[in-house]
Amino acid sequence: MDDSSVAKRLVKAVIADFPDHAEGTRPIHTIGIGVKGTFVASEVARSYCIAEHFQGQPVDVTVRFSNGSGSPARHDGWSDVRGMATRFHLKKGQSTDLIAMTLGEFFVRTVDEFFEFTKDAQQTIVAREKPWRKFLDMLQLKPPMPDPPPGKTKSGDAGTLVYANRHRFSQLGVFQAASIGAPVSYVRASYHAVHTFFVTGADGVRRPVRFSWQPVAGVLTTDPKLPPVDNYLKEELAERLKKWPARMMLMMTIGEAGDVLDDPTQHWPARRVRVVMGTLTLTEVPEGDEQVALGERISFNPMLLTDGIEPSGDPILRARKDAYEASSEMRKGAPCPFSRS
Ligand code: HEM
Repeated sequence: MDDSSVAKRLVKAVIADFPDHAEGTRPIHTIGIGVKGTFVASEVARSYCIAEHFQGQPVDVTVRFSNGSGSPARHDGWSDVRGMATRFHLKKGQSTDLIAMTLGEFFVRTVDEFFEFTKDAQQTIVAREKPWRKFLDMLQLKPPMPDPPPGKTKSGDAGTLVYANRHRFSQLGVFQAASIGAPVSYVRASYHAVHTFFVTGADGVRRPVRFSWQPVAGVLTTDPKLPPVDNYLKEELAERLKKWPARMMLMMTIGEAGDVLDDPTQHWPARRVRVVMGTLTLTEVPEGDEQVALGERISFNPMLLTDGIEPSGDPILRARKDAYEASSEMRKGAPCPFSRS
């Protein structure tokens, strides 16, 4: 892939937002943990989607949970987006991925907007906003700047808020991100795949859908009044799974006429049919080389789909295919799934 390709420029734009980016690591969602489990589709899933993993037989799954930041420093307790990338291992060595994060909506609609957004999100020195400034913001109906966590000296948050104040479409994602908090566990957060996909059912009907994962244990964030802890999420998950498996439900929301299909910044109205597509049971945090393979080297791709699931025309979803491949090449990760099939 040539250096001036859009894909490489996208990866470099992400890297520019994290000055302490470490070569050989992901430019974003850098800190993560690989987990093993099994997915079993619900009874109704197969009538909505003919994909192999929705037919009801248990499917082996690899999940990588991550912190959203591109910094290699571990700050589990910071208020930030988290990621859940899932690989369903299908028959005949095939696989399909579903990449989700804790925001329901993304910040931008197009590649050009992404470049502008990442430029605005470059880190600047942060200080606690003065009370009078917060008051002034509120008078102007602007959300006040969130306070940086103790010890945090640089942030891109201010720039993203400036971007959101200029671009209405960005506000849902940016404002949610600004106040999202830190989960008490990777399996106590809900994760959204954000984009629209089309699924084909057993009756041949093709439907626009959005996927999300809901934790069976419920959503819970840490107490923002307590000082943030830097390192607890990996150990919490490993210890939890030694005692009992953790479960996540895969939900599929079905779009209706008039719903936006190609824009990941836009929410669908609340009154939509939601189907439980299946349950993921997470059983083990592997250690040693297997953890390196599943937690670090693995390369996911949101466009690695399978028969029965198609991408929408969403330009962000489309652009991610090559960007993730370029990133995997740049960090010398496991070969991108497309090069293997
Ligand atoms: C144009 C928009 C986007 C760009 C350029 C981008 C770029 C990237 C890159 C380069 C990586 C690292 C890939 C690797 O090295 O394997 C990554 C990881 C990730 N991204 Fe995105 N991303 C975009 C949008 C999104 C959206 C909309 C979501 C929401 C679901 C998302 C969620 C994630 C997650 C969860 C990971 C970690 C995956 C893992 O654990 O391997 N990204 N992104």
